[in-house]
Amino acid sequence: MIRERILVIGASGQIGVELTLALRKIYGNANVVASDLREENDLLKGTGPYVSIDVMNKEMLHVQVIRQSITQIYLLAAILSATGEKNPNLAWNLNMQGLLNVLDIAREEKIYKVYWPSSIAVFGPTSPRQNCPQQTIIEPTTVYGISKYAGEFWCNYYHQRFGVDVRSIRYPGLISYKSAPGGGTTDYAVEIFHEALEEKKYTSFLKEDTYLPMMYMPDAIRGTIELMEAPASKISIRHSYNLSAMSFSPKEIGAEIKKHMPEFTLDYKPDYRQAIADSWPQSIDDSVATRDWGWKPEYSLERMTKDMLENLKIELGGVSK
Ligand SMILES: NC(=O)c1ccc[n+]([C@@H]2O[C@H](COP(=O)([O-])OP(=O)(O)OC[C@H]3O[C@@H](n4cnc5c(N)ncnc54)[C@H](O)[C@@H]3O)[C@@H](O)[C@H]2O)c1
Repeated sequence: MIRERILVIGASGQIGVELTLALRKIYGNANVVASDLREENDLLKGTGPYVSIDVMNKEMLHVQVIRQSITQIYLLAAILSATGEKNPNLAWNLNMQGLLNVLDIAREEKIYKVYWPSSIAVFGPTSPRQNCPQQTIIEPTTVYGISKYAGEFWCNYYHQRFGVDVRSIRYPGLISYKSAPGGGTTDYAVEIFHEALEEKKYTSFLKEDTYLPMMYMPDAIRGTIELMEAPASKISIRHSYNLSAMSFSPKEIGAEIKKHMPEFTLDYKPDYRQAIADSWPQSIDDSVATRDWGWKPEYSLERMTKDMLENLKIELGGVSK
């Protein structure tokens, strides 16, 4: 049996922190090496090894992969949708070159498995808006979406041509209370909880009726690990799997929060992120992931809202003005 040594790149980010902690529980603290360009996230401190890595520095990355005897890589470093529109060149360079560096090293070092997330941002205005299928018209209009779609083809190419076992999920907007989101269009669905508890009011940067596919972080982490642990024979998609859990609008999540905090008020002041949200589907068909490796979400809007409010209250030290 292979003794796994896992490298998580971008471990200090919204997904990276929770994924690293979950992988450490399964594979042992010492066998999951966290890495990031920025400093180690406080929640990771003392839980296992941490190295500073810039994914753009291929040589440094290569040295670490050999030095740490890495067998699996999770690549999470990326520029997200809203930040990407402010700096398209940076988003393209990091999102593409970072992935190519990892895929090349995986091929050369015969890394056992690679995980790289795509996004619902691959879909564009010409994709079906409801229950958007796995295979459909895909014409992204953001640099982030373009980079993710191109990345999906590179993953498939490295699998077909070099046999790299790379697996991927098109995450919807992810909602979590542990680590802050990193500049995406769905960040409002995290901010709303913080502002509800701290200020009892929130101004949404998306219009009230903007429906987007969303997922609670525990589902995303479980789904990611289930995909990575599935036998290779079950993986029919080497581009990236659609994954879905719930779909709601700012008005609907506001109403759900109000059930717990009747004094909460919600306003709307749409900004440049509205156009990005309007280019994406409202809901996603994830039946291929269900068929291939048994994907099933656990959290609905109702259950997630209750859990978020309870846990965030503890994180914020019981703050409620
Ligand atoms: N959070 C979401 O809602 C969401 C949705 C869809 C897809 N994704 C994808 O999931 C992945 C992780 O997203 P996230 O939300 O955790 O992002 P994040 O911005 O919170 O975290 C990314 C991390 O990568 C690090 N990083 C940036 N440049 C780096 C470099 N050159 N070298 C090493 N590390 C670097 C950052 O410091 C940060 O800690 C990304 O690929 C993102 O596109 C996220």
